[in-house]
Amino acid sequence: MAATNQHAAWAEHLQARLSKAAVVHSDHSLAKRTTLRVGGKADLYVEPANELDLAESLRFAKERSLAITLLGRGSNLLIRDGGIRGVVVCLAQPPFSQVIVEDIRLRCGAGARLKTVAVEARRAGVAGLEFLEGIPGSVGGAMRMNAGAMGSSMFERIESLRYMDLDGGVFEKSVTDVASQYRSCPLLKTHIALSAVLIGLRSSPEEIAQRMSQYSNKRWESQPPQPSAGCIFKNPATIPAGKLVDELGLKGASVGGARVSEIHGNFIVNDGNATSSEVLRLIQVIREKARTQRGIELETEVEILGSDEPSSTPPGPV
Ligand code: EPU
Repeated sequence: MAATNQHAAWAEHLQARLSKAAVVHSDHSLAKRTTLRVGGKADLYVEPANELDLAESLRFAKERSLAITLLGRGSNLLIRDGGIRGVVVCLAQPPFSQVIVEDIRLRCGAGARLKTVAVEARRAGVAGLEFLEGIPGSVGGAMRMNAGAMGSSMFERIESLRYMDLDGGVFEKSVTDVASQYRSCPLLKTHIALSAVLIGLRSSPEEIAQRMSQYSNKRWESQPPQPSAGCIFKNPATIPAGKLVDELGLKGASVGGARVSEIHGNFIVNDGNATSSEVLRLIQVIREKARTQRGIELETEVEILGSDEPSSTPPGPV
């Protein structure tokens, strides 16, 4: 059986185990689900309709020893050209995407857009979440990588979080019991974020709107409008990565359709037809020059997932 038939058979079996509203696709192209717009296909792609569906999808994968990968809104993500083996899960359906305001707290589903959170907070007069306005991600993705902008980061605003382990067990923890660092939350590397309670401060919607528009202006002035994955590298302790790339004279450097932005050195933009391997080669060029000319080891901030080669799943049980 060819890989595609095997995947189609898996998709049919999984769909039959989930509720009607669940979305299941085989050999599903992922490039359009990332902000950089590169990358191959997922063997199986699932949007569970609720937490029971999610747990059932995890069981399905475990029975077949298939890997599970969580996809948020596809920012901060570089998927290799051969795509992702196993099951890619996206919590995009409404039960995972709600934002409920309770005084100065917002209960946010992992699939909620950060922009929606910022807008709801502004409407309710809750300050402190303005920095989320321009991050093109989901709450779950931002929790997993402790996303930040404008001097603030996600975990500074989380009061508690709910998550699922890979056996479908659901847990809730106060943020004080969860370790987080710059651009990282180790717990959520092995568990699936379901929701978070964010907490802000009381303020007027007008003041919040003013801060949001300052942030938005700063971003439009300093970050490129073309498709990108956000910042490619973490900032080293000694110099912001964008400044370093700038000083190395690499702005505008390109490999195929992948180009270092002229606006901000820590962004690689897709000129329209870039492949993942071109982006990866450009990353190597930058790392090499930073190492040899400045002795700095740049660490990628974007998450790099998948394989270079497309799927060749051998025939097997469905
Ligand atoms: N700079 C240059 N040349 C450049 C780019 C930057 O000289 O090409 C200089 C700037 O002038 C500034 C300094 O480097 O003095 C820092 O630049 P910026 O203010 O743009 O901030 P950043 O450290 O590059 C961080 C986050 C961004 C976030 C911005 C705004 C990281 C890796 N990046 O960027 O987050 O949007 O602050 O708050 O922490 C992301 O995480 O994907 C991301 C884009």
